Amino acid sequence: MSEEKNVEQSMANRGENRSRRPDSQAFREFIGSGWGDRPAPRGRQEVADYLPARHEKAGEPFTGERLVIPAGGLKVRNNDCDYRFRAHSAFAHLTGLEGELEPDSVLVLHPTDGGHEAVLYFKPRAARSSEEFYADPRYGEFWVGARPSLQEMEQMTGLRCAHIDTLRDGIAKDAGQVPVRVVAQADANVTQLVNEVRQQAGLPHGADAQKIDDELLEHLSEIRLIKDAFEVREMERAVQVTKEGFEEIIRSLPRAAEHRRGERVLEGAFGARAREEGNGLGYDTIAAAGNHANTLHWIDNDGPVRSGDLVLVDAGVELDSLYTADITRTLPVDGTFTAPQRQIYEAVLEACEAALARAQEPGCRFRDIHTAAMEVLANHLENWGVLPVSAEESLSISGQQHRRWMPHGTSHHLGLDVHDCAQARREMYLDAQLKPGMCFTIEPGLYFRADDLLVPEEFRGIGVRIEDDILVNEDGSVRRISENIPRTVADVERWIAQVQSR
Ligand code: GLY
Ligand code: MN
Ligand code: MN
Repeated sequence: MSEEKNVEQSMANRGENRSRRPDSQAFREFIGSGWGDRPAPRGRQEVADYLPARHEKAGEPFTGERLVIPAGGLKVRNNDCDYRFRAHSAFAHLTGLEGELEPDSVLVLHPTDGGHEAVLYFKPRAARSSEEFYADPRYGEFWVGARPSLQEMEQMTGLRCAHIDTLRDGIAKDAGQVPVRVVAQADANVTQLVNEVRQQAGLPHGADAQKIDDELLEHLSEIRLIKDAFEVREMERAVQVTKEGFEEIIRSLPRAAEHRRGERVLEGAFGARAREEGNGLGYDTIAAAGNHANTLHWIDNDGPVRSGDLVLVDAGVELDSLYTADITRTLPVDGTFTAPQRQIYEAVLEACEAALARAQEPGCRFRDIHTAAMEVLANHLENWGVLPVSAEESLSISGQQHRRWMPHGTSHHLGLDVHDCAQARREMYLDAQLKPGMCFTIEPGLYFRADDLLVPEEFRGIGVRIEDDILVNEDGSVRRISENIPRTVADVERWIAQVQSR
């Protein structure tokens, strides 16, 4: 012991002050032996049938090129504790992998004569005789469970799989003749590797490759604008589980009203259901009571939930497949709306209906949905004597005064990311006509801050948003996939009463 004290200990080894790993030969042999069979592997995933079509779309504009799509790595939270892993959405879309199997994995679409061949490079589990088995907190079976073997991963995904140690060779193959693109934001180590390979092959790399890499990211974002049948089912399921989460919130309202941080009670109730039924939250829950509803990204959720107030809850369950819902309901804490709360709520609801009706019209562009909602809200604000100009002037590009009370967008695409397809071009997103398979939100609101001197006193401190998830059907009609989550004043009041009496 005294000898050890005198040895200078590097910072990297300070973890040994907490617990020292046995490393005798006898221990290694002993811990590697005497184990029975592992449980049966998971088998082919349903999503595997959808991957070839997704790969074809992904590769279409990039004939003859190699495309590198990393999952991303683990991110240190502090010392040897990592954040929970969540793959980059482009990787999730093209592999269908869920859970936490794939940190540091990389999907490569290798060019072939007819298109591309997808190969998944990953780190399979090590043998029980290895040090990794018991000593590696990131990958070891003792620490994170038995990761799949190469064969099991092939079985699950239907993809050809290769050891991550062969990634460099895989990318460098024919690199002189084959251009290489990478989703550069997903994993800095893989981006560096690709740049090294490109540099050695005399290809544009680093900043000179940014444009071609951005084109890949943009394309992979755009191919997610239209959901396939698997994705549509997942979105419906995410919404259903999110409804259950909202019912947990309703059940928790009485307890929340008695807790000094009632908003946290509501956040926790939803979060528990999200972890029980899915991977977790699609984004941090907003549980905003009273005037907090007027802070658009209120995620502190550390305020009280007072009797007589509304509570705005914006929450979505992300399933194991990583598809997320995005729902907002504004609920009266006591189960009934007051007159001014109801007046504002019904104006917002009318904006929802108008936006949905516009989306049903043939040829509707994404941007028109917002316009329809704004027309309704500007008219109400004019009628209430709140707008300093006419609704018409406010709605003109040079006006926009009504946006003081509705400063955010009305819609965004939804899917693997809550703000899905975020790198799509404007002509594919905002200016595009709605198409079958598109999934997006409609989420107008009105926000009257407590210190807003321009609105009637009884409106101050009230914020309302109603957010639904929408799908464009095969025949071009649109459907609220959240239609089973009550949202009219009467339905919300009845819902609260029913859930609390169960
Ligand atoms: N929950 C984020 C959003 O509604 O866009
Ligand atoms: Mn949203
Ligand atoms: Mn939302």
